[in-house]
Amino acid sequence: MVIALGADHAGWELKEALKAWLIETGHQILDFGTHSTESVDYPDYALQVAESVASGKAERGVLVCGTGIGMAMSANKVPGVRAALCSDPFTARMSREHNDANVLTLGGRLMDGELGLEILQMWLVTAFAGGRHERRIGKIVQIERRYLQGKEEDFHGSA
Ligand code: RB5
Repeated sequence: MVIALGADHAGWELKEALKAWLIETGHQILDFGTHSTESVDYPDYALQVAESVASGKAERGVLVCGTGIGMAMSANKVPGVRAALCSDPFTARMSREHNDANVLTLGGRLMDGELGLEILQMWLVTAFAGGRHERRIGKIVQIERRYLQGKEEDFHGSA
């Protein structure tokens, strides 16, 4: 799978641990940084990973900050992204089965590498269940469309 990764300074260590495992297991990684514990702003990394998933360059994205909250808030501003903040393997499974999450966000200050890896593994192997959940995802898309109508020129910088 092609997986986009991003983290701020508080998530860097966990991102690196997850990256090592992803590479070992044969995934292709697009690492958008950050690359150290020097203080940075999480929306800058969330945007790059979210755009990479929304455009189809990456199949999935993983974002880590201190709590995972700021990354989820930022990534979910990008149309087409369904970012889920997961705290354990159960929420990871549900975010895939019910919500078809395409971005996973984690709190690097809330968990060790072992739990982070368990969450990531569950999230990667779980398929979307479809059925009634498909209809609900369709309603999320309708909300996005309502707020995107007439906004195209803003994205392309005209007027
Ligand atoms: C950085 O101190 C922290 O605010 C950030 O990593 C994250 O937890 C925000 O949601």
